[in-house]
Amino acid sequence: MIKKNKIAFITGITGQDGSLLAEFLLKKKYIVHGLKRRTSTLYATQRLDKIYQEKNFQKNKTLILHYGDVTDPLNCSELINKIMPDEIYHLAAQSHVAISHVMPLYTTMVDSIGALTILEIIKNIKKKKIKFYNAATSEMYGTLKGKYLDEKTDFKPQSPYASSKLLSYWFTKNYRDSYKMFSSNGILFNHEGKTRGENFVTRKITRFVAKYNFEKKGILYLGNMSAKRDWGYAPEYVEAMWKILQYKKADDFVIASNKAHSVREFVIESFKLIGIKIIFKGKEYNEVGYDAKTKKILVKSIKYYYRKNDVENLVGNYSKAKKLLNWEPKTKFKALVEIMIKEDLKVYQKEQKL
Ligand code: NAP
Ligand code: GDD
Repeated sequence: MIKKNKIAFITGITGQDGSLLAEFLLKKKYIVHGLKRRTSTLYATQRLDKIYQEKNFQKNKTLILHYGDVTDPLNCSELINKIMPDEIYHLAAQSHVAISHVMPLYTTMVDSIGALTILEIIKNIKKKKIKFYNAATSEMYGTLKGKYLDEKTDFKPQSPYASSKLLSYWFTKNYRDSYKMFSSNGILFNHEGKTRGENFVTRKITRFVAKYNFEKKGILYLGNMSAKRDWGYAPEYVEAMWKILQYKKADDFVIASNKAHSVREFVIESFKLIGIKIIFKGKEYNEVGYDAKTKKILVKSIKYYYRKNDVENLVGNYSKAKKLLNWEPKTKFKALVEIMIKEDLKVYQKEQKL
């Protein structure tokens, strides 16, 4: 009997995780369909350019992009019924915590109702048992100082983003329990990489440092540098998403590195890689970081970037994923910073040649 290629449908395929997951699944011989939004420029598919161009000109396309939006149930229903995937990775989201305070209703429409829409569509398809992965998040926990957060920890969301993701988490669990659907949550802690969005703190720092390396000017303005996050390497986290859907039953899993570092530490490590030692002085809005050798101020903390009700500390416990999925993070904090800085040094040089 000829073994058929599995079919995956990824919402949020143009994002950091969606594009990495598409690459990963193509290597596993999946046929990958993805949802892309209409934009006035073509750049929304930039992260997919390499794999899309290569695959798109093949006779039998293995990566297919469709226009759509998770706030449009008719469009999602038509697509899913046509594609009839084996697995859906639901990653589409308004994923920025600070922006969710500015657009709470929109964030809820996309992050909660979007997940519910897809679950409803799957529920109504009788001819195939489609597996569903929901991109839940460590933000759902809120600040629980000193705790290693796992699947049994209670949630105390502190932003519209976290609350709307928590609703999607419960929908995913409810549909599993009520309709015996294969719907699983990945509770992923922060994960970063070469294509991380430029308004998340890690990429904002590495882009600044790379530019500073060449131009030797400017100041990096940040918000709360005492905040701690459990940062991992994104390509390893998308593998965990796949493993979650290959597990013998639907379940919820924490994916983390079990180590937390402050934003300040991220800044120090990044500058170290271009030969600059940063020393911090002052507190909160008056905190500055200066070059130990030249005494020039290179980093300033300003009120503008402070969040309402910021989550101060997040650190996970991935024991369940290790035991049941045989998943473990490999890239440590310093190696992650190095990967991102090296990439941004390259990106800067490329941009200068354009
Ligand atoms: P990202 O880079 O911000 O990507 C978000 C994706 O969602 C993009 O493809 C975006 O499309 C798409 N999208 C947004 N609104 C949409 C809508 N209404 N309809 C269809 N697509 C829409 O996020 P990420 O870092 O890859 O994260 C992937 C998922 O994991 C998100 O759900 C995020 O909340 C969650 N998560 C991320 C982390 C992390 O550390 N990265 C940790 C835990 C959970 P455009 O490209 O057109 O904007
Ligand atoms: N973005 C940003 N910009 N954050 C800053 C800045 C700044 O200038 N200065 C300090 N921070 C602090 C934030 O206040 C927060 O405490 C921390 O840096 C991390 O912020 P982000 O990088 O924006 O990520 P996040 O932790 O809020 O959210 C990311 O991780 C979540 C998982 O925990 C996103 O990827 C979410 O989608 C994801 O769910």
